[in-house]
Amino acid sequence: MELTGKRALITGGSEGIGYGIAEALKRRGAVVAINGRNEDKLNAAAQKLDVTAIAGDVGSEADAVRIVETFTRSAGGIDILVNNAGFGLFKPLVEIELSEFESVYRTNVFGAFLMAREAAKHFIKQDEGDLINIASTSGLKGGRGATMYSSSKFALRSMSECWRDELRRHNVRVMHVNPSEVLTPFGSKAGFAQEPSPKKLRPQEIADAIVGALQLDRRGFIPEFSVFATNPF
Ligand SMILES: NC(=O)c1ccc[n+]([C@@H]2O[C@H](COP(=O)([O-])OP(=O)(O)OC[C@H]3O[C@@H](n4cnc5c(N)ncnc54)[C@H](OP(=O)(O)O)[C@@H]3O)[C@@H](O)[C@H]2O)c1
Repeated sequence: MELTGKRALITGGSEGIGYGIAEALKRRGAVVAINGRNEDKLNAAAQKLDVTAIAGDVGSEADAVRIVETFTRSAGGIDILVNNAGFGLFKPLVEIELSEFESVYRTNVFGAFLMAREAAKHFIKQDEGDLINIASTSGLKGGRGATMYSSSKFALRSMSECWRDELRRHNVRVMHVNPSEVLTPFGSKAGFAQEPSPKKLRPQEIADAIVGALQLDRRGFIPEFSVFATNPF
């Protein structure tokens, strides 16, 4: 598929992987908007990328509806939604507060659902669209301390399967992406230091993989892919 002129909305695009995806799509001529909650950070990123900024919390139903509405009004529709906004909280089972668990699901699961629901209304009407869910290799295998984050990405994987089955007949390609460790602010926000290394993945690798998947002729699609660093050791 030719990306020039495609209208793409990327949640959590003010930094990290979402920013990288926005940059890659913009470079291919797409009409791009990025979203995030912190307006200063979002506006600075949008200005640097020369794309539209739409502030809001994807986990708020009112915001999710407004974000999609604002984008479709300004761009004249939506062709691609990248459900990228997400974060991790890591704690042993016995220390997890219900409110913390709920906050992770509010963004990673319910936020992705709300954004997908709003975008899918347009996709179904126009009988075409691309929905990309950014999950994680943590959504393929659980691990110590990862109850909240890992289970949220397992849930997202299940939603990707449901939506793929539901929306395929409307020519919607639902693609599920599992990045392994990527050097972004994600780790420091989650309370662990990521060791910088030129061998580790950058947002660019995830963005390039997504661009490749989107560029495939629309008669085909890649339902799910994982991206690993070749030799991070
Ligand atoms: N980095 C990794 O190693 C890695 C590996 C696998 C998967 N992932 C996944 O990749 C995605 C992006 O992660 P990243 O590493 O790029 O993280 P990041 O650098 O921390 O960026 C996260 C982005 O999401 C936004 N965001 C967070 N919660 C939001 C909400 N409720 N509503 C709207 N925007 C929100 C943040 O801006 P605001 O805080 O201003 O809202 C920011 O723009 C996440 O889903 C993450 O789980 C990351």
